[in-house]
Amino acid sequence: MVAKTLFGLEQVLENELKLLGAASVKQGVRNVRFTGDTGFMYKANLCCRTALRVLKPIYFDHVKSADAYYHSLSRLPWEDYMTLDTRFSIQVTQSVPMFRNTMFAAQRAKDALVDRFRKREGKRPSVGKEQPDITFFVHLSQKGMEVSIDSSGAPLNQRGYRTETNIAPINEVLAAGLVALSRWKHTTPLLDPMCGSGTLLIEAAMQACDIPSQINRKEFAFEKWNDYDQDLFVTIRKAMLNRVKECFIPLVGYDKAPSAVRKAQQNIEAANLSDYISIRRRDFFKTQKEHPDQHLHVLTNPPYGERLAVDAQLFYKQMGDTFKQNYPNTDVWIITSSMEGLKSFGLRTSRKIKLFNGKLEGRLVHFPIYAGSASR
Ligand SMILES: C[S@@+](CC[C@H](N)C(=O)[O-])C[C@H]1O[C@@H](n2cnc3c(N)ncnc32)[C@H](O)[C@@H]1O
Repeated sequence: MVAKTLFGLEQVLENELKLLGAASVKQGVRNVRFTGDTGFMYKANLCCRTALRVLKPIYFDHVKSADAYYHSLSRLPWEDYMTLDTRFSIQVTQSVPMFRNTMFAAQRAKDALVDRFRKREGKRPSVGKEQPDITFFVHLSQKGMEVSIDSSGAPLNQRGYRTETNIAPINEVLAAGLVALSRWKHTTPLLDPMCGSGTLLIEAAMQACDIPSQINRKEFAFEKWNDYDQDLFVTIRKAMLNRVKECFIPLVGYDKAPSAVRKAQQNIEAANLSDYISIRRRDFFKTQKEHPDQHLHVLTNPPYGERLAVDAQLFYKQMGDTFKQNYPNTDVWIITSSMEGLKSFGLRTSRKIKLFNGKLEGRLVHFPIYAGSASR
């Protein structure tokens, strides 16, 4: 199978898959390949926090031209995976320039599928634009063409708890990846001082409590497959729910905007995590560390330059000063696209990890602040 992810999260996803029990795990660019049985495919969909979707490859051919592509796809036994009544969709991606645009490539693949059905059964199945029953992914690379079926459906970052979004909510898959990349230990108190709709805190709490990432999801694409084994899925879901545990470490969020505080609280309630996460309305620049003797882990996604009403340099300088003066003994991790802002932070970074927040290239940076003297 192939689990797709965001750039920079491949290692985190590999670790997750190995922990869940995947075999032959191998990283690619924005994906991780692995093997497992049908039950494992259900488990990966239910539990992986940093996968966007899980694909099951069904066909491979060494095609080199657009013509060979159509002929090869005409030989694919599409009828093994769908019937005349199935509303289908096909998406194409390419890492070699075989087609000028992937929309045209998808159209040719649809032609191959439809022509095959017409020849065999005299009728054609219809395309499902909004909610297809089955989605095929065709990927063209140097090696050839791989066709897969999507086992997930709606992307796995749509967890189902985010009923309320803030102006710039972070993708849930990215948020889960940041929690892992920042190496938050579930025994250290966690603070997001600019929490917006609360995504980072929700993903952190779910990790600490071992709650499957898709616990709130209504359906997966594999539930519509001919070979769907409901008993197996129910057994796996139960086994995963049995692993859920309590989390006794404080998880706290601040935001200065009353609307963000309200949204975060609503999302936390929707995720059933109100017992674990507290949100307070605060201007971070006016705060002090709540328990100065305790080690604190900060993970935050402050406003970026272009979304910031105020001057980025000034804002990031204020942020750095607040951490330096009021937050001794704290590991600060920040995801930002404001390189200019970072320069004004005034603290030395110990790590920088390249990531993308949507289309914006960004960095996850680590500023360790020691106990005692800020200058250390
Ligand atoms: C990019 S958003 C965070 C988005 C969040 N990660 C999410 O998933 O929704 C930045 C947040 O910082 C908040 N903010 C800006 N200045 C602040 C300050 N001085 N103190 C606290 N919060 C602040 C904004 O209100 C906004 O909600």
